[in-house]
Amino acid sequence: MEIIPHSRPSIDQEEIAAVVSVLQSGRIAQGEQVLSFEKALASMIGVAGAVAVNSGTAALHLALLALGIGENDEVVIPSFVCPALLNSIRYVRAVPVPADINPETFNMDVPDIRKRLTGKTKAIIIPHIFGLPADIREIVSLGVPVVEDCAQSLGSSYDGLPTGSFGALSVFSFYATKVICTGEGGMIASGDSQLLQKIRDLRDYDEKDDSRLRYNYKLTDLQAAMGLTQLRKLPVLIGRRRAIAGRYNEFFREHLLPVPVSPSDREHIYYRYIIRTRHLSKLLDAGRDAGIAYRRPVFKPLHHYLGMTGYPKTDEAFLGTVSIPIYPSLRDTEVKTVLNHLQSILK
Ligand SMILES: Cc1ncc(COP(=O)(O)O)c(C=O)c1O
Repeated sequence: MEIIPHSRPSIDQEEIAAVVSVLQSGRIAQGEQVLSFEKALASMIGVAGAVAVNSGTAALHLALLALGIGENDEVVIPSFVCPALLNSIRYVRAVPVPADINPETFNMDVPDIRKRLTGKTKAIIIPHIFGLPADIREIVSLGVPVVEDCAQSLGSSYDGLPTGSFGALSVFSFYATKVICTGEGGMIASGDSQLLQKIRDLRDYDEKDDSRLRYNYKLTDLQAAMGLTQLRKLPVLIGRRRAIAGRYNEFFREHLLPVPVSPSDREHIYYRYIIRTRHLSKLLDAGRDAGIAYRRPVFKPLHHYLGMTGYPKTDEAFLGTVSIPIYPSLRDTEVKTVLNHLQSILK
């Protein structure tokens, strides 16, 4: 049986040629390609600069360090997200403070964030979850430094401005199945050149005058060459995601079922297509039997890891949503297979 994976990278001859060319150049670690990749992403976001690192998690870690966050400082994050955010806060010995989500958008709920702010809150990490921009203007106006997490939202916009251009800093991930990919990889972008300077310094350890704690978080030119190629294709990659989302929307509307919300002031890039269900396990099992990988959008909410309660909307989303395959390399025939399968289940 041919399997339709939940996600897969969209790579072709262009990425292969770009990587081969770096291999042939003999300079494969951090170099010119990394610099070009940083400049290209910063210019796309419209900020002063960017620093490439080897994962989104490393990007989050360095963003928190650059903001001076440390022991006992509180950092607000959503509960309905992957544990990378939690880990980055633990790396700097700060305290994670999960917030609940808006059940319509799955993004962080602003009134709930407000309730969780204290005198110790030093930052809010705000992912634009599943490719839909969060209420970023309102969150920035809370007066706490904001790290925009654009791991799932590269290319989306709010009020006509790119996500990643609102926060003190923004972070990106280029993991194999992200919006653009370099295998593993990440970036921090900012309009504040002092913050960028700090991050650049922390990214690698060699040839420094002092022995301050630093990291080896460098991206390689091999990866950056791939990233640059992918970044150039971003409009096409997003166009394909939107076309597939359009097909799915049509199907769900025909069956009088809800489709993902996409408010008119923001551009969704459909990194994930989330459907609501009262039969989560059944749907996951039926997909497995049919060779289609449906997934829980979030493996486990963060408040569950932390043994906390008081997150009703996150719990509801955890128990009642499924992410179905959507990625640029998903073929039309595969989209049809998914739709036929969903149709057979609805019957
Ligand atoms: C919202 C969000 N932030 C951060 C990360 C971490 O990125 P990476 O896997 O590159 O460390 C991810 C990855 O899944 C993510 O989805």
